[in-house]
This record gives sequence, structure tokens and C-alpha cells, in this order.
Amino acid sequence: MGRKNQVTSVAVPAGRENGQTPNPKSQAPLALILFGPPGSGKGTQAKLLVKTLGIPQISTGDMLREHVRKGNAVGTKVEAKMKAGILVKDEVVNRLVEERLAQPDAARGFILDGYPRTRAQAETLCGMLAAQGAETVVIHLVVDYNEVIARLTGRRQCPVCGTLYNVTSKPPKVPGVCDLDGAALSVREDDREEVIRERLDAYQKQTRPLIDFFRESGKRLYDVDASHDPPEAVFGKILALIR
Ligand code: AP5
Repeated sequence: MGRKNQVTSVAVPAGRENGQTPNPKSQAPLALILFGPPGSGKGTQAKLLVKTLGIPQISTGDMLREHVRKGNAVGTKVEAKMKAGILVKDEVVNRLVEERLAQPDAARGFILDGYPRTRAQAETLCGMLAAQGAETVVIHLVVDYNEVIARLTGRRQCPVCGTLYNVTSKPPKVPGVCDLDGAALSVREDDREEVIRERLDAYQKQTRPLIDFFRESGKRLYDVDASHDPPEAVFGKILALIR
């Protein structure tokens, strides 16, 4: 891709893979930002990266859905916006991320999935990362518009173990049933076509401009074509960039 920057240094210190002790020469935690439109594969890639890098996935979408499921104050505040495919308020997600980054398992690094999504979030995150002395790498997953629509309308998820499926590209062995635990697969409420279009619109207007913000603030940013290859091949490309 034309915007791909050169890899000039190693983003993941040798030995950090599989949760091993990081190279003592580079103790900075890795802040890996998975950036891209809805359906670009951020969640799919995050789950693969967690296993290999041994650092946690921090998905603001998952955290918000958990609050909605519990029906607590945060959940009540954000539910209608999420159902409509609109971004929730910056202060709500910023607080969730700040609290999550303070957990001990994030001390060695973390994978951000779906955050930041606005300029205000990106500026807040930069402050948090500077305080942690984190080494930041942004992976921009580039996917065609029509491919995104097809992926999201076909997405299914196990409500028990979180495994992601797709009726076309990654069907379960038995339709509608999780291969791992036999639970009935569910469809996300915001994966209806009219809501998907709203989410893509929010991405274009509020989130995509952050690519310029990352560049201007000197973050290492790599475009990865995630439209044409299966998840495992995309994962291989990401690993090659961050190692
Ligand atoms: P969120 O949960 O973050 O959703 P999203 O960004 O819209 O992304 P998705 O989870 O839909 O897609 P993904 O890129 O993770 O793709 P996936 O791997 O699942 O946000 C939901 C809502 O929460 C927002 O609308 C907003 O209201 C709120 N919110 C969250 N964060 C916020 C924030 N920071 N600020 C404000 N509001 C916020 O893959 C999709 C499908 O494609 C799957 O079926 C998968 O199997 C398939 N697939 C993946 N990769 C491939 C491939 N390479 N080839 C073929 N199929 C593939």
C-alpha cells in the first residue's frame, strides 16, 4: 500500500512473544492500535495477537456491550447510541480505557481494538501512552466498503466464549452452533444493514481522519490490506511488521 511507512526498528522486543519476558534492552510496553472501519477484522486479529504476544485485547465495543448487558449506569447511558450505530461520548470511553490500562495485566503492553475513534480520544490516549512510556504501533486494516457490508451481515458470535464466525468465510461446522462449546451463535444488534451504514458513516467522518493525526504525531503507522486474504494471512502480515 502506498502509505506504508518503513519499518525502522523492532516494535515487539524479542522474547515478548508468547508472554515471555521482554528483552531487557527494551522494557517499554507495546501499545498496538488496531485501526480500521467496522468489519475490517480488528476483533479477529486482536484475538490472534493476544495468543502470540501474550498481552491483553482492550476492546471498547466489548466493554460497552458488557455494561449494556449488566444494565448498569454506563450501560443505560450508551445503549441507545450503540443500537443506532452512533459513537458514545468521549468521556465515557476515555474513562473506561484509563481504568483498564491501570490493570496489572496491561503493564507489559496491550492491543487496542476500536479505540481511539475521535480526535479527543486520540489526544487523551497520547497522554496516557506518554505517561506509560509506551511504544506505539498503529495497524490500519484497509478493507473495501462492499466487503465490510458482506462481512458484518454474515457475522455470528458465540455468546459464551466470544469466538467469531462468518456464514460465508468462516462458517461453524453445524450452522448456528459454536464449534467449541455448542452454544447457539448470536447476531449483534448493530449488524443490521441500516445500522451498519450509520457506523460506516461515523467511521468516515469521525474516525478515519485520525490517520493524519497519527502521522502528524509521529506514530508508526502501517497500512495492511485486509480485504483479500483470510484472517491468518492478515495476521502474518501484522506480525511481520511489528517484529
Ligand atoms: P465495536 O464493537 O468497536 O465495533 P466496530 O468498530 O464497528 O467493529 P466490529 O466489531 O464491527 O468489526 P471488527 O473490525 O472487529 O471485525 P471482526 O473481527 O468482528 O463498536 C460498536 C459500537 O460501540 C460503536 O458503533 C459505538 O457505538 C460504540 N463504541 C465502541 N468503541 C467506541 C469508541 N472508542 N468511541 C465511541 N463509541 C464507541 O470481523 C467482522 C466479520 O468479518 C466476522 O464475521 C469475521 O469472521 C469476518 N472476518 C474478519 N477478518 C476476515 C478476513 N480477513 N476475511 C474474511 N472474513 C473476515
